Amino acid sequence: MFRFALISALAALFIMPLTSRTLAAGDVTKPIEVEWQHGGPFGTFDRAAVQRGLQVYRDVCSGCHGLKYIAFRNLLEIGLSEDQAKIIAAEYTVIDGPDDEGEMFERPGKLFDYMPEPFDNEKAARASNNGAFPPDLSLIVKARKGGENYIYSILVGYMEPPDGVTLAEGMAYNPYFPNHQIAMGPPIDDEAVEYVDGTKNTKEQIARDVVNFLAWTAEPSLEARKRMGVKVILFLIVLTVVLYGVKRKVWAKMH
Ligand code: HEC
Repeated sequence: MFRFALISALAALFIMPLTSRTLAAGDVTKPIEVEWQHGGPFGTFDRAAVQRGLQVYRDVCSGCHGLKYIAFRNLLEIGLSEDQAKIIAAEYTVIDGPDDEGEMFERPGKLFDYMPEPFDNEKAARASNNGAFPPDLSLIVKARKGGENYIYSILVGYMEPPDGVTLAEGMAYNPYFPNHQIAMGPPIDDEAVEYVDGTKNTKEQIARDVVNFLAWTAEPSLEARKRMGVKVILFLIVLTVVLYGVKRKVWAKMH
């Protein structure tokens, strides 16, 4: 009896991970692995890529996706001058007010404004997108399992549906998206943007740049956090050496 229980327990231990893994594998495709300059313990943002990514966001994604946690003044942190950020802000129209008559009014954006939403409300957004809601992208890199690699894979991973798969109306096939049917058509292709710095505008380059930008919007303080980590470790190493010296000195008298 005991032996039987032991054998079934062992068998269960072996079989369980196997089945759960096969189930999971059928559902999502593992994201493409990309080297990110801001990855690892010492990583810093690739400023040029983040700035190009801002251009991709503005030229392509901002038609459907908001960035509600980013203010125009934050763009100074990625290396834009105050004048450049002011010019970008002024290209947007924001609603302000009420004025002395109690009316809301429109004015050009200023540095302290946040990026305006592309749609007036969620219902309007869904109505323009086949019933699906384009999520705000400010925190999307942190909000999705797989982070940067996942978002990159979604952007470059569109393909023809395999034989036997029928797409629902208005959906596109993307193996990296859960259930493989996504309500966002392929947003970028080769030459989808014309880079001002002359970088070659392949689909992969554009995707990498916009993901670099979205990694920054999701954690603008990443560099400060990593610098602090390095300082703390250095401090702990020095402290260890000092305490070791003290310990030897104190115990020397004991022998
Ligand atoms: C024409 C509108 C449109 C444009 C332009 C667009 N998207 Fe989307 N996007 C959508 C919609 C709609 C969804 C929701 C898809 C769904 O839930 O099936 C979505 C979803 C997403 C998601 C979320 C995927 C997930 O896991 O939920 C990401 C990330 C994304 N878009 C990034 C981008 C980026 C980056 C760009 C610019 C390069 C962009 N989108 C351009 C409409 C758009």
